[in-house]
Order: sequence, then C-alpha cells, then structure tokens
Amino acid sequence: MLGSLRSMLLLYSPSPRYGSLFALYLGPHYTVVVNNNQHAKEVLLQRGRDFAGRPSMVTTNLLTRGGKDIAFSDYSPLWKFHRRLVHNSFTLFGEGTSRLQDIVLSSVDSLCIELLSGGRCGFDPSPAVTRAVTNVVCTLVFSATYRPGDAELQEVIKYNDGIVQTIARGGLVDIYPWMKMLPNKSLSKLKDCIIIRDRLLTRKLEEHKTSQMNSVPPLPPHIQASQSEDEPRDLLDALLKGKTGSGQGHRSSGPEDEGITDDHVLMTAAEAFGAGVETTSTTLLWILAYLLHHPEVQDRVQKELDEHIGSERAVCISDRGRLPYLDCVINEGMRIRPVSPVLIPHTAITNSRIGNHSISRGTRVLINMWSIHHDPQQWDKPDLFNPDRFLDDQGQRVTPSCFLPFGAGPRVCVVFMDLLTPKIQKGRRTGSKLIDSPWNFPYRIQLNT
Ligand code: HEM
Repeated sequence: MLGSLRSMLLLYSPSPRYGSLFALYLGPHYTVVVNNNQHAKEVLLQRGRDFAGRPSMVTTNLLTRGGKDIAFSDYSPLWKFHRRLVHNSFTLFGEGTSRLQDIVLSSVDSLCIELLSGGRCGFDPSPAVTRAVTNVVCTLVFSATYRPGDAELQEVIKYNDGIVQTIARGGLVDIYPWMKMLPNKSLSKLKDCIIIRDRLLTRKLEEHKTSQMNSVPPLPPHIQASQSEDEPRDLLDALLKGKTGSGQGHRSSGPEDEGITDDHVLMTAAEAFGAGVETTSTTLLWILAYLLHHPEVQDRVQKELDEHIGSERAVCISDRGRLPYLDCVINEGMRIRPVSPVLIPHTAITNSRIGNHSISRGTRVLINMWSIHHDPQQWDKPDLFNPDRFLDDQGQRVTPSCFLPFGAGPRVCVVFMDLLTPKIQKGRRTGSKLIDSPWNFPYRIQLNT
C-alpha cells in the first residue's frame, strides 16, 4: 500500500490544493493523510495513545504471523508488554555497556578494509555497507559474526532484501484482501523469503534454547549492565529469558493470555532485520552520497574529527558531544531523505480528533514525514543539504521541533529509545513519566501511555 501511495503523497505535499490534512478512501478504508508538523505531533504525541493502533494487512500479517511483532501489531496490553520486554532486552547494549559500540567498531573495521581494497577504482559502496549493517544486527540478535563472502550472511541479506522490497511495494492486496486468492508474484516472493527467514531463525532459536537449558542459574529479572557468564549474550537470549512468566506480566483476556510465545520471540528477531538493516544502511548511503556532492561539508567533518579525536583511536559513542557538526550532518541526512517518508500506518483505536476534525475509531492515519521534513514554512530552502540548520548562532546544536526521523510517542522507533538515548532510560529509572530527549527536542516525549 505504501509503495504506490508514497509517490502520490510526495507529489501532493505540501500542496495548497489538498492542504495540511486531507482524507481519501483507499478501497474501503477511510484514510487521513497528515502533512504538517503540528497535526503530526497531535497524532503521535498529544493524542498518541488514541492513534497507536496498526491496521491489519495481508502482507504484514504474513510477515509477522498475524501481528506477533512490535511494528505491525495492533495496540493491546500484550503489545505493550512485548515492547517493554524488547526495550529491556536492548538495554543490554545501551547505557553503561560498550557492547553495541564494540560490535559496531568491529564491523566498521571490516567495512573500511573492504572499501579500501578497491584501490582508486570507482565502486558502489552499497553492498559493503549493507553487509556491515547486517553483520551488526546478526551479532546483536544471535551473536553470529560473518566474513564478507559467508553463505549464511548472503542468505540473510537476500531474504531480507526480498522482504523489504515486497513489503515496501505493498500493493492492492493490502487494500482488497480477497486479491490474495489471485496469482500474485510479489506475494509469492514474500512467502518464499519468509520460509527461508523462518528456517534460519528457528534454527538459531533452538540453538539458544539448548544452550540456555545447559547453562546454570537463570538471570534475575533485571538485566545487569556488566557481562557475566549467565548474562544474555544477545537479543534472542534476553527475549527467551524475559518471556518466562510473561503470562503474568500483563492483564488481558482472550487469546493474549498466553503471553509472549516462541512466535513472538522469532518475529521480534526477524523484525530487527526488517526494521534495522534497510533503515540504517539507506541512511548511511544517503549521507555518503551527500558528502560526495558536498566536499566542503566533508572537509569540515574531517577537521572536527582531527581536532577532537585525532588519528590514534576510533570514534566512540561518548565522543558525540564533542562532534556537533558530525551530528548535524547525520541529522541533515535523515531530514532530507527520511528512510520512512510515510510512517508505518497508524489507526485510531478510539474516537478522537486532529485539529478541529473528528476522527472515528478505526480510521487509518498516514503521517507524511517527507512533507514535514520539506515544509518551506519550517525549513529554509528545504531541498538544500545544509547541516548548519542544526546549529544556532553560537554554534550550539539545536533540533527543530519538526524533525522527527524516528517518529514520536508510543510508536516511536524502539531503537531511538533504546540504543541512541541513554538519558531516556535514566528518566525512566528515576520514575519520571515525562522525559527529555537528549537531542534537545523542544517538546517532551510521553512514555508509558
Ligand atoms: C536510521 C535508523 C532508523 C530510523 C531512521 C528508524 C525510523 C523509524 C520510524 C520512522 C518508525 C515508525 C514510527 C511510527 O510508526 O510512528 C520506526 C519504527 C520502528 N523501528 Fe526504527 N528506525 C531505524 C532503525 C531501527 C533499528 C536498527 C531497529 C531494530 C533493530 C528498529 C526497529 C523499529 C521497530 C520495532 C519499530 C516499530 C515501533 C512500534 O510500532 O511500536 N529501527 N523506526
């Protein structure tokens, strides 16, 4: 659905004819399209819970065994519990540990060697970047690290690409579900990729279960920051340990009472690839492309690195505060080419409103992030790549409130919360309900809705 819609929305936005908010029927589905920042924040933050649902679609139901993941699952007590479990599992790699950094730096080393091996010949960096990012996610999820030509890594890259391409293209089948009865090349390809994915991930899951059964005492519920022998090695380990007793972890009735099942664990692992690889590699590749076309920006980044880091050691996460210009370049890359130009569709789980318009329960809401990140009323010359727009007159980092590359509110990207934002975790630990974003968003993000 998004594939065909996306081009249409890009053409229409921000259009004086259709305005900042318009509605259309996608087949039988009444759908509201949000084109501006103010309405997007209403949907995502101010009334985030009202709009935290997800529609049921043929392709995503196939992909996620009927919504046993985070991204495409509808809002429910079990979804909230599942999301919290994933959040806790990600803390393994976040604040207080250098594990994510070590994994990334090791992958960056291999990537640099690969990129330099071509000498001065021109080359396409995208396969190497995708391999490096996939390797990071493989280590994060099931502790595997592959060499570039490894057959299993190639398999992961191939099925993941197949899934991303078919899901991104969507199609009429997500609007008219009965069309799944007709021959459909894209759906067949998706099914084939899912079979390969599930075979590989089930094998990894079984290996993890066996090694947990053979190991001594289970971890206490709170995951320790420092690694010890019985600490989870990776996301699969953490989810398996966390799912024990999950049936009592939330209050619900009906089929959700079974709690977090093996299917949920498997779909979460699968989603780390689906949601993590394409987003991260596309962002990196766009930034590379813009750096190529803006050598003056490249020079400034290099100068900042030379001054504050030098050439004796690798850059690490704690250097971030010392590298404001590099931070601006990354942000400008995510602004000008948002990886999710239209966010994953939201649905209203209750009657609500956007601006002065009433919205009935069940309405689908599409947030047009492309339009928000290119709104000339918010951004000066929005089509120009200009990292300086994230610096104020004193050279201090600023983050305009209409910059939302990870979404916001109850459905904000899980990685935005878990890996990139240590302060958010501090906020949660001290029990505060409203939290400051470390990127100085001038608004507050509401958690625990
Ligand atoms: C540059 C990197 C990334 C960007 C720009 C990004 C952006 C986004 C955006 C815009 C959303 C949709 C928010 C909404 O529907 O309102 C999202 C959701 C999500 N992302 Fe990311 N993402 C990135 C990396 C990752 C990674 C590495 C992972 C996992 C390993 C991940 C996991 C997820 C999940 C599970 C959701 C669904 C959240 C929910 O529906 O509750 N993302 N992301």
